[in-house]
Amino acid sequence: MSAAAVFEGRKNGPVFNDAPKVLPVGLPEGAEPRSTMSGIALLDTARKGTQAEDLENKLRRLVVGQDEAIHQIVKTYQTHLAGLSPVGRPLGNFLFLGPTGSGKTRVVEATAEALLNNPRAVIKIDCAEFQHSHEISKLVGSPPGYLGHRETHALLSQEALNQHHTDAIRISFVLFDEIEKASDALWNLLLGILDKGVLTLGDNRKVDFSSAMVFLTSNLGATEMSSLLTPRLGFHVPSPENAVSNAKLSARVSDAGIAAARRKFTPEFINRLDKIVVFKSLGNEELRRIVDIELEMVQERIQTAAAGKPFLVNVTDSARECLLMEGTDLRYGARHLKRAIERLLVQPLSNLMASGQIHRGDCIRVSHAEGSPSLTFFRETEAWDVAA
Ligand SMILES: Nc1ncnc2c1ncn2[C@@H]1O[C@H](COP(=O)(O)OP(=O)(O)OP(=O)(O)O)[C@@H](O)[C@H]1O
Ligand SMILES: [Mg+2]
Repeated sequence: MSAAAVFEGRKNGPVFNDAPKVLPVGLPEGAEPRSTMSGIALLDTARKGTQAEDLENKLRRLVVGQDEAIHQIVKTYQTHLAGLSPVGRPLGNFLFLGPTGSGKTRVVEATAEALLNNPRAVIKIDCAEFQHSHEISKLVGSPPGYLGHRETHALLSQEALNQHHTDAIRISFVLFDEIEKASDALWNLLLGILDKGVLTLGDNRKVDFSSAMVFLTSNLGATEMSSLLTPRLGFHVPSPENAVSNAKLSARVSDAGIAAARRKFTPEFINRLDKIVVFKSLGNEELRRIVDIELEMVQERIQTAAAGKPFLVNVTDSARECLLMEGTDLRYGARHLKRAIERLLVQPLSNLMASGQIHRGDCIRVSHAEGSPSLTFFRETEAWDVAA
Protein backbone atom coordinates (compact mmCIF):
# COMPACT_ATOMS: atom_id res chain seq x y z
CA MET A 1 0.00 0.00 0.00
CA SER A 2 1.37 3.40 -0.93
CA ALA A 3 1.94 6.07 1.65
CA ALA A 4 -0.88 8.08 0.11
CA ALA A 5 -3.25 5.11 0.41
CA VAL A 6 -2.28 4.64 4.05
CA PHE A 7 -2.92 8.34 4.65
CA GLU A 8 -6.29 8.00 2.88
CA GLY A 9 -7.08 5.03 5.09
CA ARG A 10 -6.17 6.94 8.24
CA LYS A 11 -8.49 9.73 7.25
CA ASN A 12 -11.36 7.28 7.05
CA GLY A 13 -10.46 5.21 10.03
CA PRO A 14 -7.51 3.26 11.40
CA VAL A 15 -5.44 0.97 9.21
CA PHE A 16 -4.30 -2.31 10.72
CA ASN A 17 -2.15 -3.56 7.80
CA ASP A 18 0.89 -3.66 10.03
CA ALA A 19 -0.80 -5.84 12.63
CA PRO A 20 0.50 -9.41 12.71
CA LYS A 21 -1.83 -11.91 11.15
CA VAL A 22 -2.99 -14.29 13.85
CA LEU A 23 -5.35 -17.15 13.06
CA PRO A 24 -8.16 -17.36 15.60
CA VAL A 25 -7.95 -20.55 17.63
CA GLY A 26 -10.16 -23.37 16.29
CA LEU A 27 -10.47 -22.04 12.73
CA PRO A 28 -10.45 -24.92 10.16
CA GLU A 29 -7.25 -25.01 8.13
CA GLY A 30 -7.45 -22.99 4.96
CA ALA A 31 -10.40 -20.94 6.18
CA GLU A 32 -9.99 -17.16 5.89
CA PRO A 33 -10.59 -15.32 9.17
CA ARG A 34 -13.19 -12.61 8.88
CA SER A 35 -12.87 -9.56 11.04
CA THR A 36 -15.61 -9.21 13.60
CA MET A 37 -14.41 -5.81 14.76
CA SER A 38 -17.31 -3.46 14.55
CA GLY A 39 -15.81 -0.37 16.16
CA ILE A 40 -13.28 1.13 18.51
CA ALA A 41 -14.02 2.23 22.03
CA LEU A 42 -11.93 4.86 23.74
CA LEU A 43 -11.07 3.49 27.18
CA ASP A 44 -11.08 5.53 30.37
CA THR A 45 -7.81 5.00 32.24
CA ALA A 46 -8.85 7.39 35.01
CA ARG A 47 -11.62 5.08 36.22
CA LYS A 48 -10.70 2.95 39.21
CA GLY A 49 -12.03 -0.28 40.59
CA THR A 50 -14.40 -0.18 43.55
CA GLN A 51 -11.77 -1.37 46.05
CA ALA A 52 -9.33 1.38 45.10
CA GLU A 53 -12.14 3.93 45.09
CA ASP A 54 -13.16 2.74 48.52
CA LEU A 55 -9.63 3.25 49.80
CA GLU A 56 -9.50 6.73 48.30
CA ASN A 57 -12.80 7.74 49.94
CA LYS A 58 -11.72 6.42 53.32
CA LEU A 59 -8.36 8.20 53.10
CA ARG A 60 -10.04 11.45 52.17
CA ARG A 61 -12.21 11.18 55.27
CA LEU A 62 -9.18 10.58 57.52
CA VAL A 63 -6.50 12.81 56.01
CA VAL A 64 -7.02 16.46 55.19
CA GLY A 65 -5.33 18.47 52.46
CA GLN A 66 -2.72 15.93 51.32
CA ASP A 67 -4.32 14.77 48.07
CA GLU A 68 -1.06 14.01 46.26
CA ALA A 69 0.00 11.47 48.91
CA ILE A 70 -3.44 9.85 48.81
CA HIS A 71 -3.34 9.74 45.01
CA GLN A 72 0.04 7.97 45.02
CA ILE A 73 -1.04 5.38 47.58
CA VAL A 74 -4.31 4.62 45.80
CA LYS A 75 -2.48 4.31 42.47
CA THR A 76 -0.04 1.81 43.95
CA TYR A 77 -2.88 -0.17 45.54
CA GLN A 78 -4.76 -0.28 42.25
CA THR A 79 -1.69 -1.60 40.41
CA HIS A 80 -1.25 -4.23 43.12
CA LEU A 81 -4.89 -5.32 42.84
CA ALA A 82 -4.50 -5.65 39.08
CA GLY A 83 -1.46 -7.89 39.70
CA LEU A 84 0.75 -5.55 37.68
CA SER A 85 3.15 -4.36 40.37
CA PRO A 86 6.79 -4.52 39.28
CA VAL A 87 8.48 -7.79 40.21
CA GLY A 88 11.40 -7.99 42.66
CA ARG A 89 10.89 -4.70 44.47
CA PRO A 90 8.45 -3.21 46.96
CA LEU A 91 4.96 -2.29 45.76
CA GLY A 92 5.90 1.36 46.18
CA ASN A 93 8.78 3.43 47.54
CA PHE A 94 7.75 6.88 48.68
CA LEU A 95 9.61 9.77 50.24
CA PHE A 96 7.38 12.13 52.21
CA LEU A 97 8.79 15.58 52.91
CA GLY A 98 7.18 18.55 54.58
CA PRO A 99 6.60 20.35 57.84
CA THR A 100 6.08 18.67 61.18
CA GLY A 101 2.50 17.75 62.05
CA SER A 102 1.29 17.88 58.45
CA GLY A 103 0.18 14.23 58.23
CA LYS A 104 3.20 12.34 56.85
CA THR A 105 2.92 9.59 59.45
CA ARG A 106 -0.87 9.89 59.66
CA VAL A 107 -1.41 9.10 55.99
CA VAL A 108 0.47 5.79 56.42
CA GLU A 109 -1.50 4.92 59.55
CA ALA A 110 -4.72 5.91 57.83
CA THR A 111 -3.93 3.55 54.93
CA ALA A 112 -3.42 0.68 57.39
CA GLU A 113 -6.63 1.71 59.13
CA ALA A 114 -8.58 1.82 55.88
CA LEU A 115 -7.28 -1.50 54.54
CA LEU A 116 -6.55 -3.55 57.65
CA ASN A 117 -8.84 -1.87 60.13
CA ASN A 118 -5.86 -1.12 62.34
CA PRO A 119 -3.89 2.14 62.21
CA ARG A 120 -1.10 0.44 64.18
CA ALA A 121 -0.51 -2.19 61.53
CA VAL A 122 2.57 -0.25 60.42
CA ILE A 123 6.15 -1.23 61.11
CA LYS A 124 7.81 2.00 62.18
CA ILE A 125 11.54 2.39 62.24
CA ASP A 126 12.78 5.59 63.79
CA CYS A 127 16.10 6.02 61.98
CA ALA A 128 17.44 8.29 64.75
CA GLU A 129 17.46 5.24 67.05
CA PHE A 130 19.76 3.31 64.74
CA GLN A 131 22.67 5.74 64.52
CA HIS A 132 25.32 3.17 65.37
CA SER A 133 26.08 0.08 63.41
CA HIS A 134 25.67 -2.23 66.42
CA GLU A 135 22.09 -1.00 66.79
CA ILE A 136 21.32 -2.38 63.35
CA SER A 137 21.20 -5.85 64.94
CA LYS A 138 17.88 -4.80 66.49
CA LEU A 139 16.55 -4.60 62.95
CA VAL A 140 18.16 -7.63 61.35
CA GLY A 141 19.15 -9.81 64.35
CA SER A 142 22.68 -10.93 65.21
CA PRO A 143 24.65 -13.49 63.24
CA PRO A 144 24.60 -17.02 64.71
CA GLY A 145 27.27 -17.55 67.36
CA TYR A 146 26.92 -14.06 68.83
CA LEU A 147 26.04 -13.83 72.48
CA GLY A 148 22.27 -13.47 72.79
CA HIS A 149 21.74 -14.45 69.16
CA ARG A 150 18.68 -16.55 69.96
CA GLU A 151 17.11 -13.84 72.10
CA THR A 152 17.29 -11.09 69.49
CA HIS A 153 14.12 -10.83 67.50
CA ALA A 154 14.78 -8.96 64.31
CA LEU A 155 12.33 -6.06 64.00
CA LEU A 156 12.31 -6.57 60.25
CA SER A 157 11.78 -10.34 60.09
CA GLN A 158 9.37 -11.88 57.59
CA GLU A 159 7.00 -12.76 60.46
CA ALA A 160 7.03 -9.15 61.65
CA LEU A 161 6.36 -7.95 58.13
CA ASN A 162 3.47 -10.34 57.56
CA GLN A 163 1.93 -10.19 61.03
CA HIS A 164 -0.96 -7.95 60.05
CA HIS A 165 -1.84 -9.63 56.76
CA THR A 166 -5.44 -10.74 56.39
CA ASP A 167 -6.96 -13.21 53.92
CA ALA A 168 -8.04 -10.30 51.77
CA ILE A 169 -5.08 -7.92 52.14
CA ARG A 170 -1.50 -9.13 51.96
CA ILE A 171 0.27 -5.81 52.08
CA SER A 172 2.81 -4.68 54.70
CA PHE A 173 3.33 -1.04 55.56
CA VAL A 174 6.87 -0.11 56.54
CA LEU A 175 7.75 3.39 57.63
CA PHE A 176 11.28 4.71 58.09
CA ASP A 177 11.05 8.00 59.97
CA GLU A 178 13.67 10.78 59.79
CA ILE A 179 15.84 9.02 57.24
CA GLU A 180 18.32 11.89 57.14
CA LYS A 181 19.48 10.61 60.55
CA ALA A 182 20.18 7.07 59.32
CA SER A 183 23.68 5.66 59.84
CA ASP A 184 25.65 4.35 56.84
CA ALA A 185 24.84 0.77 57.80
CA LEU A 186 21.11 1.50 57.92
CA TRP A 187 21.39 3.43 54.70
CA ASN A 188 22.91 0.44 52.86
CA LEU A 189 20.22 -1.81 54.22
CA LEU A 190 17.58 0.65 53.06
CA LEU A 191 19.03 0.86 49.55
CA GLY A 192 18.82 -2.93 49.24
CA ILE A 193 15.18 -2.95 50.30
CA LEU A 194 14.22 -0.15 47.92
CA ASP A 195 16.07 -1.66 44.97
CA LYS A 196 15.61 -5.42 45.23
CA GLY A 197 12.84 -5.71 47.79
CA VAL A 198 15.06 -8.03 49.81
CA LEU A 199 16.74 -7.75 53.19
CA THR A 200 19.26 -10.25 54.51
CA LEU A 201 18.98 -10.94 58.22
CA GLY A 202 21.92 -11.57 60.57
CA ASP A 203 21.42 -15.33 60.23
CA ASN A 204 21.33 -15.04 56.42
CA ARG A 205 17.59 -15.58 56.04
CA LYS A 206 16.02 -13.35 53.42
CA VAL A 207 13.08 -11.08 54.04
CA ASP A 208 10.88 -10.42 51.04
CA PHE A 209 9.59 -6.84 50.79
CA SER A 210 7.79 -7.32 47.48
CA SER A 211 4.38 -7.06 49.20
CA ALA A 212 5.35 -3.96 51.14
CA MET A 213 4.71 -0.29 50.63
CA VAL A 214 7.81 1.48 51.93
CA PHE A 215 7.45 5.02 53.22
CA LEU A 216 10.38 7.24 54.12
CA THR A 217 9.85 10.52 55.90
CA SER A 218 12.09 13.47 56.45
CA ASN A 219 11.79 17.06 57.62
CA LEU A 220 14.54 17.97 55.19
CA GLY A 221 14.00 21.34 53.56
CA ALA A 222 11.32 22.20 56.12
CA THR A 223 13.11 25.43 57.08
CA GLU A 224 13.37 26.60 53.45
CA MET A 225 9.77 25.65 52.90
CA SER A 226 8.47 27.42 55.97
CA SER A 227 10.40 30.59 55.12
CA LEU A 228 8.57 30.64 51.79
CA LEU A 229 5.32 30.19 53.67
CA THR A 230 5.93 32.71 56.44
CA PRO A 231 3.63 35.38 55.02
CA ARG A 232 0.88 32.75 55.01
CA LEU A 233 1.09 32.17 58.74
CA GLY A 234 -1.94 33.40 60.60
CA PHE A 235 -5.56 33.18 59.64
CA HIS A 236 -6.17 33.60 55.96
CA VAL A 237 -9.37 33.36 54.04
CA PRO A 238 -9.10 31.36 50.81
CA SER A 239 -10.61 33.21 47.90
CA PRO A 240 -10.71 32.65 44.13
CA GLU A 241 -8.29 35.60 43.65
CA ASN A 242 -5.56 34.11 45.80
CA ALA A 243 -6.19 30.52 44.63
CA VAL A 244 -3.77 31.00 41.73
CA SER A 245 -1.06 32.53 43.87
CA ASN A 246 -1.59 29.78 46.45
CA ALA A 247 -1.11 27.16 43.74
CA LYS A 248 2.10 28.91 42.60
CA LEU A 249 3.33 29.12 46.16
CA SER A 250 2.59 25.42 46.71
CA ALA A 251 4.60 24.59 43.60
CA ARG A 252 7.55 26.71 44.83
CA VAL A 253 7.42 25.09 48.27
CA SER A 254 7.29 21.66 46.69
CA ASP A 255 10.27 22.49 44.43
CA ALA A 256 12.23 23.74 47.44
CA GLY A 257 11.58 20.46 49.27
CA ILE A 258 12.59 18.30 46.32
CA ALA A 259 15.72 20.41 45.72
CA ALA A 260 16.73 19.95 49.39
CA ALA A 261 16.26 16.18 49.03
CA ARG A 262 18.37 16.12 45.86
CA ARG A 263 21.13 18.05 47.61
CA LYS A 264 21.22 15.74 50.60
CA PHE A 265 20.58 12.30 49.09
CA THR A 266 22.62 10.47 46.47
CA PRO A 267 21.20 9.97 42.98
CA GLU A 268 21.23 6.19 43.52
CA PHE A 269 18.79 6.71 46.40
CA ILE A 270 16.59 9.24 44.60
CA ASN A 271 16.41 6.92 41.57
CA ARG A 272 14.97 4.12 43.68
CA LEU A 273 11.98 6.22 44.75
CA ASP A 274 8.68 6.03 42.94
CA LYS A 275 7.61 9.43 44.14
CA ILE A 276 8.70 12.29 46.35
CA VAL A 277 5.63 13.91 47.88
CA VAL A 278 5.95 17.27 49.57
CA PHE A 279 3.25 17.66 52.19
CA LYS A 280 1.50 20.99 52.37
CA SER A 281 1.57 23.00 55.55
CA LEU A 282 -1.91 23.02 57.02
CA GLY A 283 -3.85 26.26 56.94
CA ASN A 284 -6.77 27.33 59.07
CA GLU A 285 -9.38 25.62 56.87
CA GLU A 286 -7.59 22.27 57.03
CA LEU A 287 -7.12 22.54 60.80
CA ARG A 288 -10.83 23.24 61.18
CA ARG A 289 -11.62 19.97 59.40
CA ILE A 290 -9.04 18.13 61.51
CA VAL A 291 -10.81 19.37 64.68
CA ASP A 292 -13.95 17.56 63.47
CA ILE A 293 -12.01 14.35 62.71
CA GLU A 294 -10.22 14.44 66.06
CA LEU A 295 -13.48 15.02 67.94
CA GLU A 296 -14.97 11.95 66.26
CA MET A 297 -11.93 10.02 67.45
CA VAL A 298 -12.45 11.30 71.01
CA GLN A 299 -16.05 10.02 70.86
CA GLU A 300 -14.74 6.62 69.69
CA ARG A 301 -12.31 6.55 72.60
CA ILE A 302 -15.19 7.26 74.98
CA GLN A 303 -17.22 4.41 73.47
CA THR A 304 -14.33 2.03 74.12
CA ALA A 305 -13.34 3.35 77.55
CA ALA A 306 -16.85 3.68 78.91
CA ALA A 307 -18.15 0.51 77.26
CA GLY A 308 -20.57 -0.19 80.09
CA LYS A 309 -21.56 3.44 80.55
CA PRO A 310 -21.53 5.07 77.13
CA PHE A 311 -22.32 8.75 76.88
CA LEU A 312 -22.34 11.32 74.13
CA VAL A 313 -20.30 14.47 73.87
CA ASN A 314 -21.77 17.33 71.93
CA VAL A 315 -19.09 19.90 71.21
CA THR A 316 -20.79 23.12 70.19
CA ASP A 317 -19.48 25.44 67.47
CA SER A 318 -18.21 27.92 70.07
CA ALA A 319 -16.16 25.15 71.74
CA ARG A 320 -14.81 23.98 68.37
CA GLU A 321 -13.77 27.54 67.60
CA CYS A 322 -12.00 27.78 70.97
CA LEU A 323 -10.13 24.50 70.33
CA LEU A 324 -9.09 25.81 66.94
CA MET A 325 -7.84 29.14 68.35
CA GLU A 326 -5.98 27.45 71.20
CA GLY A 327 -4.58 24.75 68.95
CA THR A 328 -3.45 26.86 66.04
CA ASP A 329 0.27 27.27 65.78
CA LEU A 330 1.06 26.81 62.14
CA ARG A 331 4.65 25.91 62.97
CA TYR A 332 3.50 22.66 64.56
CA GLY A 333 0.65 21.74 62.23
CA ALA A 334 -2.04 19.53 63.71
CA ARG A 335 0.14 18.39 66.61
CA HIS A 336 -0.61 21.55 68.58
CA LEU A 337 -4.30 21.11 67.86
CA LYS A 338 -4.28 17.59 69.27
CA ARG A 339 -2.61 18.85 72.41
CA ALA A 340 -5.30 21.52 72.83
CA ILE A 341 -8.03 18.87 72.48
CA GLU A 342 -6.36 16.68 75.13
CA ARG A 343 -5.87 19.57 77.53
CA LEU A 344 -9.18 21.38 77.14
CA LEU A 345 -11.54 18.48 76.43
CA VAL A 346 -10.19 15.01 77.23
CA GLN A 347 -8.64 15.80 80.61
CA PRO A 348 -11.72 17.57 82.03
CA LEU A 349 -13.89 14.73 80.69
CA SER A 350 -11.65 12.19 82.45
CA ASN A 351 -12.16 14.09 85.71
CA LEU A 352 -15.92 14.12 85.22
CA MET A 353 -15.95 10.37 84.55
CA ALA A 354 -13.67 9.53 87.48
CA SER A 355 -15.70 11.65 89.92
CA GLY A 356 -18.95 9.98 88.87
CA GLN A 357 -20.50 13.12 87.40
CA ILE A 358 -21.34 11.45 84.10
CA HIS A 359 -23.95 8.71 83.89
CA ARG A 360 -24.84 6.12 81.32
CA GLY A 361 -26.83 7.70 78.53
CA ASP A 362 -25.93 11.29 79.37
CA CYS A 363 -25.28 13.82 76.70
CA ILE A 364 -22.50 16.16 77.73
CA ARG A 365 -22.70 19.52 76.02
CA VAL A 366 -19.41 21.34 75.77
CA SER A 367 -19.45 25.03 75.03
CA HIS A 368 -17.24 28.05 75.35
CA ALA A 369 -17.94 31.49 76.80
CA GLU A 370 -16.09 34.32 75.14
CA GLY A 371 -12.94 35.32 76.99
CA SER A 372 -12.81 32.15 79.08
CA PRO A 373 -9.58 30.14 78.98
CA SER A 374 -11.45 26.84 79.37
CA LEU A 375 -14.51 25.00 78.09
CA THR A 376 -17.75 24.57 80.03
CA PHE A 377 -19.44 21.18 80.45
CA PHE A 378 -23.20 20.64 80.96
CA ARG A 379 -25.03 17.39 81.54
CA GLU A 380 -28.20 16.84 79.57
CA THR A 381 -29.56 13.79 81.39
CA GLU A 382 -30.78 10.82 79.41
CA ALA A 383 -30.86 12.89 76.31
CA TRP A 384 -30.31 9.87 74.12
CA ASP A 385 -31.37 6.29 74.12
CA VAL A 386 -28.58 3.88 75.01
CA ALA A 387 -28.83 0.81 72.83
CA ALA A 388 -28.95 -2.36 74.92
N1 LIG B 1 -3.36 16.21 57.05
C1 LIG B 1 -3.85 15.71 58.19
N2 LIG B 1 -5.11 15.19 58.22
C2 LIG B 1 -5.61 14.69 59.37
N3 LIG B 1 -4.96 14.68 60.55
C3 LIG B 1 -3.71 15.17 60.58
C4 LIG B 1 -3.10 15.71 59.40
N4 LIG B 1 -1.88 16.13 59.72
C5 LIG B 1 -1.70 15.85 61.01
N5 LIG B 1 -2.81 15.29 61.55
C6 LIG B 1 -2.99 14.91 62.96
O1 LIG B 1 -1.83 15.33 63.69
C7 LIG B 1 -1.11 14.21 64.19
C8 LIG B 1 0.37 14.41 63.92
O2 LIG B 1 0.62 14.33 62.53
P1 LIG B 1 1.76 13.39 61.90
O3 LIG B 1 2.29 12.49 62.96
O4 LIG B 1 1.23 12.75 60.70
O5 LIG B 1 2.83 14.49 61.55
P2 LIG B 1 4.13 14.32 60.66
O6 LIG B 1 3.91 15.07 59.39
O7 LIG B 1 4.50 12.89 60.57
O8 LIG B 1 5.18 15.16 61.54
P3 LIG B 1 6.72 14.84 61.91
O9 LIG B 1 7.53 15.34 60.76
O10 LIG B 1 6.96 15.65 63.13
O11 LIG B 1 6.85 13.37 62.16
C9 LIG B 1 -1.68 12.99 63.48
O12 LIG B 1 -1.68 11.87 64.33
C10 LIG B 1 -3.09 13.40 63.14
O13 LIG B 1 -3.95 13.14 64.21
MG1 LIG C 1 5.97 11.64 61.44
